[in-house]
Amino acid sequence: MHDLLIENIGLLATPTGTAAKAGAAQGEISLLQNAWIAVDGERVAAVGTGDAPEARERFDACGRLVTPGLVDPHTHLIFGGWREHELAMKLRGVPYLDILAAGGGILSTVRSTRAATQEELEDKAARELRVMLAQGVTTCEAKSGYGLNLEEELKLLRAIRSLNERQPVELAATFMGAHALPEECRDDREGYVRQIVEEMIPRVAAEGLAEFCDVFCETGVFTPEESRRILEAGQRHGLKAKCHSDEIDPIGGTEMAGELGAVSCEHLIRCQPSGIAAMAKGGTIACCLPATSFYLNATFAPARQMIEAGVPVAFGSDFNPGSCPVNSLQVAMNIGCYKYRMTPEECMTAVTLNAAAAIRRADRIGTLEPGKQADMLVWDAENLDYLFYRFGTNLVRTVFKRGRKLLDAKT
Ligand code: NIG
Ligand code: FE
Repeated sequence: MHDLLIENIGLLATPTGTAAKAGAAQGEISLLQNAWIAVDGERVAAVGTGDAPEARERFDACGRLVTPGLVDPHTHLIFGGWREHELAMKLRGVPYLDILAAGGGILSTVRSTRAATQEELEDKAARELRVMLAQGVTTCEAKSGYGLNLEEELKLLRAIRSLNERQPVELAATFMGAHALPEECRDDREGYVRQIVEEMIPRVAAEGLAEFCDVFCETGVFTPEESRRILEAGQRHGLKAKCHSDEIDPIGGTEMAGELGAVSCEHLIRCQPSGIAAMAKGGTIACCLPATSFYLNATFAPARQMIEAGVPVAFGSDFNPGSCPVNSLQVAMNIGCYKYRMTPEECMTAVTLNAAAAIRRADRIGTLEPGKQADMLVWDAENLDYLFYRFGTNLVRTVFKRGRKLLDAKT
């Protein structure tokens, strides 16, 4: 007798396994028609077709599509305020890095984030997480990076820890003190890098506040050499490396991060063949952010070349108040499919198994197989093509997290 049975699944579509997939394997999705899923506690107990086993609770999927819960491997979830005042500048064509250099952009959000209490930031992020969950995101990465000094960065990471306890979307925390040079350190780059390496990283690690360390390696922000020092310090303290690289200029961040064996590189819009080779060698996942390319009016990451070179591709929303105020991973999925010319199957792997691997959780989430966590979505769709063919509407109908039904749109 199982705890829960999802029955009458028209199509169960899931990647398989516990490691990221690249090459042809990224497009291999197991498709099971007329299927059921049995759940015990928080985990999938069995998957099958035909005669379903007994269960205490039954849920009728009414012939719909079921997939694993979506995993968003890249968000800047915790911030104060918004930046709609930058829209007119953007429409006039003022470049993103010029807005930052003039004290706006990330630095504007740093001011509003510092002015907010931890509780205010949590409440604001909790509202976004409710929308993300309704759109199918059952696990999400969240970065700090709008505090830019020890106490303020700790405040953001503590907000993430507390949110993890008070709402159902599971969060993976990333320390990103190296998101920008704070205004008060404008003339002391070296001082700020040392503060990150000598004070912030040891403290964040000692308090167990983050699993990952990320750096914005970009023209006018952190150089590949500074980024390497920061990521290596993180690695020494047990924080796995991630790197924002090639978002605007290809200055060598991806090559450096691949050499360090980073878990993932982020953005990669201008990634060069040398960067792709470095990721392949380093076992690094390419975390592509299609909605950011759209919002920055930029080109799109060479995702197909990455897949062909054996680099697993994941998609994230990059939800943040500047370069991508979009909290919908479904929108990012759709843009990724069209602009990277990736198949629905490759895209599904990008937002489930590969995204889970990008936050080191592929052993537990990202597929629907016995032993995996029962994070499941029932879609208002009958097949995968439909998910990527529709655009801009929420197609998620029912969300299960750890075997519990959290949301159900009955209309
Ligand atoms: O991933 N590139 C750096 N960080 C964010 C943007 C943050 C912001 O503009 O506030 C990104 O694009
Ligand atoms: Fe980002």
